[in-house]
Amino acid sequence: MTFEYWESRYQTQDMPWEKGEPSPGLVDFLAANTQLARGSVAVPGCGTGHDVLVWARAGFDAHGFDLAPSAIRLATERARAAGAPAQFQVTDFLRDDPPFHFDWVWEHTLFCAIQPAERDRYVEAVLRWLKPGGQYLAVNYLIPDTEGPPFGTTREELWERFSPHFNLATEYVPRSYPNRTGLELMMWWQRKS
Ligand SMILES: C[S@@+](CC[C@H](N)C(=O)[O-])C[C@H]1O[C@@H](n2cnc3c(N)ncnc32)[C@H](O)[C@@H]1O
Repeated sequence: MTFEYWESRYQTQDMPWEKGEPSPGLVDFLAANTQLARGSVAVPGCGTGHDVLVWARAGFDAHGFDLAPSAIRLATERARAAGAPAQFQVTDFLRDDPPFHFDWVWEHTLFCAIQPAERDRYVEAVLRWLKPGGQYLAVNYLIPDTEGPPFGTTREELWERFSPHFNLATEYVPRSYPNRTGLELMMWWQRKS
């Protein structure tokens, strides 16, 4: 999907993904894993920034990236209002180089937002943006839809794409927004050295 497509979705306020709160699965993950070493996290396709603020409040050096300038403007305003030390930047995650290499990449509804034909490029981008030994935490949306966005995926596809590059630390069905209950799969991948 093009820059114009996403920017117009924000300008016309056609944003059904905007829930007014962070991913419940991410909130629970950070609450359950307070012992994690604090480091940098990239949130590609961050939208209006709810998840980035959760990472920042948990003590991570949190950076949100989005193709749509309107999303970055809303996220920056949200962070400023909350007094949260989060950074935001207009970026094409699939094509741009990272400002630096991250300890973590957090995925939430970007994989399902891009064209399925761009999924090879998505995996390459995750590898390009992460440090060696970095961690890829994803809440995947397991829906059957072929007309999107959102475009569906399966656990089998995710395994095929990510297991050559990452070891799977854990996977489980997380707590979700009400309209996604039972449709999400949290996968915590650690990059192979
Ligand atoms: C379905 S929305 C999800 C937003 C946010 N993750 C959330 O759950 O609220 C997908 C987001 O990805 C952004 N996006 C799409 N393609 C992108 C790309 N290549 N690089 C960075 N962001 C992208 C869109 O602008 C949009 O904000």
